[in-house]
Amino acid sequence: MRSPWTLLQKEYLAMLPINVMDYEALARAHMDPGAWDYYQGGSEDEVTLRANRSAFERIRLRPRMLVDVNTIDMSTTVLGTAVSMPILVAPTAFHGLAHPQGECLTVQGVGQMGTLMTVSTVSTRRLEDIAHVASGPLWFQLYVRHNLKASEVLVRRAQAAGYLAIVLTVDTPVLGKRERDVRNDFYMPSHAHSANFSDVPKARILEVFIPTWQTVDWLRSLTSLPVLLKGILTAEDALLALEHGVAGIVVSNHGGRQLDGVQASIEALPAVVEAVAGRCEVFLDGGIRRGTDVLKALALGARAVLVGRPILWGLAANGQEGVRHVLELLRAELERAMQLAGRPTLSSIDRTLVKL
Ligand code: FNR
Ligand code: LAC
Repeated sequence: MRSPWTLLQKEYLAMLPINVMDYEALARAHMDPGAWDYYQGGSEDEVTLRANRSAFERIRLRPRMLVDVNTIDMSTTVLGTAVSMPILVAPTAFHGLAHPQGECLTVQGVGQMGTLMTVSTVSTRRLEDIAHVASGPLWFQLYVRHNLKASEVLVRRAQAAGYLAIVLTVDTPVLGKRERDVRNDFYMPSHAHSANFSDVPKARILEVFIPTWQTVDWLRSLTSLPVLLKGILTAEDALLALEHGVAGIVVSNHGGRQLDGVQASIEALPAVVEAVAGRCEVFLDGGIRRGTDVLKALALGARAVLVGRPILWGLAANGQEGVRHVLELLRAELERAMQLAGRPTLSSIDRTLVKL
């Protein structure tokens, strides 16, 4: 009898994924339906989830011709750290739902592509174990929903383990209403527990603390690491973020999983970029599925983009190699798009490339 692994390999070869959406289909076939809905879903009517894609599709490009595009250079820096491309990995929870080795495999696929991974507070592997097998730079995403003392311990652990920045997620005072999970009565299976908290008493994990701007000051006083805020969607909050001394902003609507009805993240980007006016680095996530999406975000002022669900699809479909290949597909598409657009370097990508 053939093992499930052989079948998976055969199916993988038969399908030969050629874009990120092929990985979506492969991953779906390999995941438990409840876990799949948890990964895929957005909140309530999923209006924002869909908008994250349709907004990219509405933006049209204005390519320049007869530019020398023989050599494409997309290497860059993010908060001073060198990366091979302006495509980073967004923090997503519970990689153990996609693969038993979870984040420890993801991080190796990411490292093979020479880019940076943001590790979620609610990873299924300990942040130290992930750092131990990483070959590339890491940021640590912080949820301060648990009590402050437990969060302080996490920040100190991340700093000691070599993480280069703290990404404080600010759009999650409570979870959005994800109706797929409600209908499925979805609970995290025991193999996908939150590993970073295994030594924190359960009662303390369940204590809920809702962060405010004061929490940003608290975090900055706690660590010398640069702090980014993830989930900013307005110019008003971008200006406040600068007042509170952040090193970076991630324009994000959490992949359409929090407040339904907010703008697509690519729609929110220009106002934030304008307000910040170069005073900190601005990143974007939400709906990146093609190299041309990356190009559009860079043209509208993002330093780099972060990718969420596609990484989980790669991991579910083919482990470390799937993660690597998803990033490779996006990198190759971006390279081709830069050539076709007559923009051979990142500095040549500017606002004139897009027509909103
Ligand atoms: C997330 N996201 C997220 N964000 C965060 O700050 N901490 C987290 O633990 C998680 N967990 C998480 C789980 C899953 C299953 C998803 C899909 C998303 C949000 C994530 O960082 C990012 O904002 C979006 O995923 C980006 O949108 P795309 O690329 O998935 O469209
Ligand atoms: C989510 C949380 C964990 O989006 O960020 O599911």
